[in-house]
Amino acid sequence: MISFMDATAELRIAEDPSALAEIAAQEVLAVARAAVAAHGRFTVALAGGSTPRATYTRLAQPPLAAQMPWDRTVVFFGDERGVPPDHADSNYGMARAALLSRVPIPLERIFRIPGEGADPEAVAAEYARTLGEVLGVRRGEVPRLDLVLLGLGVDGHTASLFPGSPVLKETFRTVAAVHAAAATIPQRFTLTYPILNAAACVIYLVSGAEKAKVVKAALGDRSSGLPAAMVRPTAGRLLWILDRAAAALLPSRRTS
Ligand code: 6PG
Repeated sequence: MISFMDATAELRIAEDPSALAEIAAQEVLAVARAAVAAHGRFTVALAGGSTPRATYTRLAQPPLAAQMPWDRTVVFFGDERGVPPDHADSNYGMARAALLSRVPIPLERIFRIPGEGADPEAVAAEYARTLGEVLGVRRGEVPRLDLVLLGLGVDGHTASLFPGSPVLKETFRTVAAVHAAAATIPQRFTLTYPILNAAACVIYLVSGAEKAKVVKAALGDRSSGLPAAMVRPTAGRLLWILDRAAAALLPSRRTS
């Protein structure tokens, strides 16, 4: 594994997807333990898509499963598709199958985005209210999650923040309903930059040769304006965990 840091981000490069999942699961455990030690609970927004599945599976297996503070963990989602929880494309459904159904987190501490709701704007507003209430912030304050896990699309999207979307300009609301024409399921719900950049820690999980070009653009050129490049916690940690294939176009660096 190669590790290095530039001005704003830490980078870990794993040999392959399996090593990426192991490193990511260890990082989640470390963040969870530190959060519980610091303030008695661990609040996390899970990523959707397919890359995180192996990390979630690792967290649900020995030895990490027994080390995680599940009884202090509160789960949210970084984004969701406009589908019911049992739909094959549900981010909640993927996380439930790989992790949430296998570990002792009380259901009342898992907050999915009800993407199937008939009124998307109301769904987004209600989820924002829930985030504020559960994370205990006063009106107008932005909730601070201990950890946000994110993926990266080949077009540079992250969560459901897609290039060219008006939601990229959101500076107040923490959750938005978006219509992502380029996405397989256009109706989406997403956390926005205000809450993503308020997080104590953001970890990107990116795997595969098909992501190498967009990784170089997102990490190499902050002015690229790619949605993923605009996630930079103002007072938190930013860590990118890639496998070698996804990191292939990054300038080679001396390991620390
Ligand atoms: C979603 C995700 C999305 C995902 C990227 C990468 O709902 O689709 O939140 O942002 O993280 O598209 O997806 P893969 O991990 O499947 O490549």
